[in-house]
Amino acid sequence: MQKYAAIRGWGMYTPERVLTNAEMATFVDTSDDWIRSRTGIGQRHILADDETCATLATRAGRQALAQADLAASQLDLIIVATCTPDYLLPSTACLVQDALGATRAAAFDLGAVCSGFMYGLVTGSQFIQTGSYQNVLVIGAEALSRFLNFKDRTTCVLFGDGAGAAVLRANDSPAGVLSFVLNAQGSGAHLIKVPAGGSAAPGTRKTLAEEDFYIHMSGGEVYQYAVRTMSDDATTAVRQAGLTREDIHLVIPHQANIRIIEAVAKRLDYAMEKFFVNIDKMGNTSAASIPIALCEAVAAGRVRPGDNLLFVGFGSGLTSGATVVRWGWDA
Ligand code: ACO
Repeated sequence: MQKYAAIRGWGMYTPERVLTNAEMATFVDTSDDWIRSRTGIGQRHILADDETCATLATRAGRQALAQADLAASQLDLIIVATCTPDYLLPSTACLVQDALGATRAAAFDLGAVCSGFMYGLVTGSQFIQTGSYQNVLVIGAEALSRFLNFKDRTTCVLFGDGAGAAVLRANDSPAGVLSFVLNAQGSGAHLIKVPAGGSAAPGTRKTLAEEDFYIHMSGGEVYQYAVRTMSDDATTAVRQAGLTREDIHLVIPHQANIRIIEAVAKRLDYAMEKFFVNIDKMGNTSAASIPIALCEAVAAGRVRPGDNLLFVGFGSGLTSGATVVRWGWDA
């Protein structure tokens, strides 16, 4: 009998410290008006000195486990989607596995940047659909502020820190990921990049002096790619689920720029009311953005059992994807 991977638990964590646009304008040449009108962002959360990607991920994961009423010891697998891991090695997922006490679980990180949660959700679902695993925890977590040049106004205003998580459990009737599209366009790898810190350009005085440990981005080119690919991927995922555009109850897009979301809504011929948007409070939290938005959508009463949700996003890589997710699970 075919198995499905229902989302049975969800959780999020954002650091306490909030950095508003007005506060940013006190140390970098920008303004609340520019940031809001060009991006829709009003504030972002910034992690404390004693927090890391793994600590954010652990808090979101713990909340998702509690929501699913599942003990950490019952987990078979933990996937952490992140582009800002604690270390090059070991994986952040192993740190989370230890912190949660998920002693039976396999653990690995997944690198698809802002598309990472969708890639992780699809990957985790495969283990359940094949019958190999029963319980999988997928987390999107980012400590992006550690990789921002707070003197570069073209990037530092865009990003925030946080984590979101989902517990997947085996289900008999259709639930969880019904269809998916995952894409990569490596020819655009140079468009969003942290040039140093990997084996191509390890840490040296030169790479440090040249500020190569920060995020560098060609925003305009990424923008074009985002609008096109999000619209195309969304359309394909809905068709592959055997649904029509009217069957989608709520779209949860990657929160990178309100103008990108509005352009995608227009292309898909959806009213903006069909989209869940929280970019004003969060900024772009990369792999954490969709699961955080999911948690907030559930808390706001925008998600009901039986609803068809559409997750859609894009990111560095370049990567993109869309998944249709049926909310709810067997009693
Ligand atoms: N405050 C004030 N002025 C600014 C700021 C700022 N924060 N940033 C740029 N400007 C200036 C520019 O210098 C430029 O000035 P000029 O005309 O004198 O040269 C002017 O504003 C316009 O700049 P543009 O880059 O043309 O602004 P645009 O409207 O394209 O918005 C933005 C830039 C917001 C980056 C947009 O291109 C965008 O959102 N791109 C997508 C990026 C993205 O979403 N990336 C997500 C992936 S990230 C990841 O995967 C980790």
